[in-house]
Order: sequence, then C-alpha cells, then structure tokens
Amino acid sequence: MWGHPVRWSPMFGDMEPTAPSPATSNISVRRGEPLVVVKDVNKHFGELHVLKNINSVVNRGEVVVVIGPSGSGKSTLCRAINRLETIDDGIITIDGHELPKEGKALAHLRADVGMVFQSFNLFAHKTVLENVTLGPIKVRGMSRKDADKRAMELLERVGVANQAKKMPAQLSGGQQQRVAIARALAMDPKVILLDEPTSALDPEMINEVLEVMIRLAEDGMTMIVVTHEMGFARKAADRVIFMAEGEIVEEATPEQFFTNPQSARAKDFLSKILAH
Ligand SMILES: Nc1ncnc2c1ncn2[C@@H]1O[C@H](COP(=O)(O)OP(=O)(O)OP(=O)(O)O)[C@@H](O)[C@H]1O
Ligand SMILES: [Mg+2]
Repeated sequence: MWGHPVRWSPMFGDMEPTAPSPATSNISVRRGEPLVVVKDVNKHFGELHVLKNINSVVNRGEVVVVIGPSGSGKSTLCRAINRLETIDDGIITIDGHELPKEGKALAHLRADVGMVFQSFNLFAHKTVLENVTLGPIKVRGMSRKDADKRAMELLERVGVANQAKKMPAQLSGGQQQRVAIARALAMDPKVILLDEPTSALDPEMINEVLEVMIRLAEDGMTMIVVTHEMGFARKAADRVIFMAEGEIVEEATPEQFFTNPQSARAKDFLSKILAH
C-alpha cells in the first residue's frame, strides 16, 4: 500500500541512532543564501488539488529529503521546480530568477536544475558518453573535446568510466542511475533534484547509488531528494520535509523527524513504513 518501503541499508550499519554531525544536528544551520524559493504555490490536476499553498526555501549547499505517502505531491513538486509541470499560482525562483515560461531562457534556467528520475531516462540510442555530453554541447555550447573530457571525469567520479562506450541497456540499473547522475552533473546545475533515484533498483545496487549521492552531498551540492531511504536521510540530509495530501505537514532534521515526529500524519506514515 505504501509503494516504497523504507530500506535499512547495510552500509548504514544497524541504524542505531548516532550522534548527528554538526551540519545535520540543527535545523537552523543554513549553509548559504536561498537558492530554490517556492512561495505560495498551488497546483491542480483537474479537480485534484495536488500542491496546496507550498512554501519552502532550499539554501545553497543544503540537502533536503522529501518524504511522504504515495500521491502526496512529491514528484509534482519536483517537476514544478524544474518546470516540467506548470503551477496555477505562486512563484518558484532558482537563484533569484523566476522560471521563464518557455523558449531558450527556460532551457538555460532548467539546465541549472539537474533532474534524476526513478526510471533513469537515459537516451537508449546513445552511448553512455554521449548521454553525458549531449546537454553540455547542445545547451551550454561546449566543444565536443571539452564535453568528452568533462564527461569522462564525471563518469570516473560515479565509478562507471569503464562503461563509457556502451549503450545504456548493456549496464545494470545501478550503473545506469549513476550515469544519469553524471549526466545531470555535466550541466553544472545549481541544484539537483532526485526523485526516488533508488526505488527501481535491485537491493544490491541501491548502495552504490546512495554512496554517490552521499559523496555529492559531502561535496556541497544543493540537493532535493525524494526518498524513503532513512539511512541516506540521516547521513546526508540537513532537513526532512514531510508531505501529505499536497501539503508540507512537517519540516525537521532527520533525527527529529524519524525519532520524534510531531504530526499525527507523520506518526502514522512512519509507523506504516517501519512496520513494512
Ligand atoms: N499528469 C497528471 N494528471 C493527473 N493527475 C496527476 C498527474 N500527475 C500526478 N497526478 C496526481 O497528483 C497526485 C500527486 O502525484 P505525485 O506523483 O506528485 O505524488 P507522489 O507523492 O510523487 O507519489 P509517489 O510516492 O507514488 O511517487 C496524485 O494523486 C496523482 O495521481
Ligand atoms: Mg513520485
């Protein structure tokens, strides 16, 4: 019923609550100025009110985990931030710029927001290397030589440089997802959105992707991650946003949220996913 069970990943040990690092221990820790600002945002699909007066700010260098029941609007929020979905009213700004409605300006601003989906979404008929170089060449106007060099560095960083000449279908799910992360990074985004990046993966491949995400977080990348991976949230997130029925119901540090949720809806949600 709750499509995505929490996974207790072995890499995070037995998940006994550990002392949080200074960066994650206090919700007032803000690493930088506002980068993504979502203000009074509403969105309907027909009669369905899927985003209800959403307000949130993600600061530069912050890692925010979005969690909540299926259908609560997590993906719609991510897609709205990247303008893959329109909004009915309210404002979303990226680094001070409101998202343009269309055209070249939108392509450029969208390039500031890297996006990684559950289903990888690699271009099936292009090699791994071409998947990573396409955006920088087409949107950023980078030369093929420079794009290839940068792409190989990124593929190295996510541990799949030796797969560069292969087609996506020849890779495992975990490898494909790491290529998708490299592809998002190739555009030098200001923020990267990952929507359930590990939930389509076989268990043994989850950790290799989480490790890449944790390193990214440690490197200071601003990240918005929809995930039920509590290990990741505890280890890497500055903040957890809990959504239910289109609303942000709770915002807290991972420690606070998982050990002492405030709202009845969060308590109910956590009890269900923990019992899973
Ligand atoms: N294109 C669409 N047209 C109509 N309704 C939609 C569309 N996309 C999403 N919805 C509805 O909007 C609501 C929010 O969907 P959304 O995908 O954002 O939820 P979610 O929190 O990401 O869920 P999940 O955990 O299952 O991924 C759901 O009720 C969904 O059925
Ligand atoms: Mg979703």
